[in-house]
Amino acid sequence: MLELKYGHPLSFKSWLSDNTHLLRPPVGNGQIWQNSDFMVTIVAGPNERSDFHDDPVEEFFYQFKGNAFIIIWDRDRYERVNLNEGDVFLMPPHVLHSPQRADAESRCLVVERRRPEGEKDGLQWGCAACGTLIKRYEMTLKSIVDDLPPVYEQFYATSDAERVCPACGMQHPGRDYATWHREIARSSHARVYA
Ligand SMILES: [Fe+2]
Repeated sequence: MLELKYGHPLSFKSWLSDNTHLLRPPVGNGQIWQNSDFMVTIVAGPNERSDFHDDPVEEFFYQFKGNAFIIIWDRDRYERVNLNEGDVFLMPPHVLHSPQRADAESRCLVVERRRPEGEKDGLQWGCAACGTLIKRYEMTLKSIVDDLPPVYEQFYATSDAERVCPACGMQHPGRDYATWHREIARSSHARVYA
């Protein structure tokens, strides 16, 4: 029998139905093959995020079920990129992005590369009112599924004083994702919910 490191072709449909336990909160994603150069994950909704990911490698998206959108943070501005059912999208490295997946039944195939030696991922949070950096953390990412949640917890454990914007004085609401999104909806620095 032919030995293939990642096994023979598998039914994508069966993988999805066999892994529904991963595709719901709090995890919301699953990686199909382990220890591969391509990190192929399926990401489901719903999520509750206000963090932005700084990825040193490209990310490929195939939104194969339901709709989602991505907030892109470019200098002091937040902009919306829709990811509608059937869309494919290739995100360049180091574009700060925050995928928003409100629909619990939505599914997206995401492909990233194993990080080159010494390249770090970043996670950062910004002021909803003026787009100024509030906190940034960097990590050597080996697993998309396991390495990000501890960084969220580190941010959520910060004090209110640590989350005050150095530019305008507004306090970042931390874990309270809904409040942050209400604030960017009102901000002149954002075109996300208009
Ligand atoms: Fe601010």
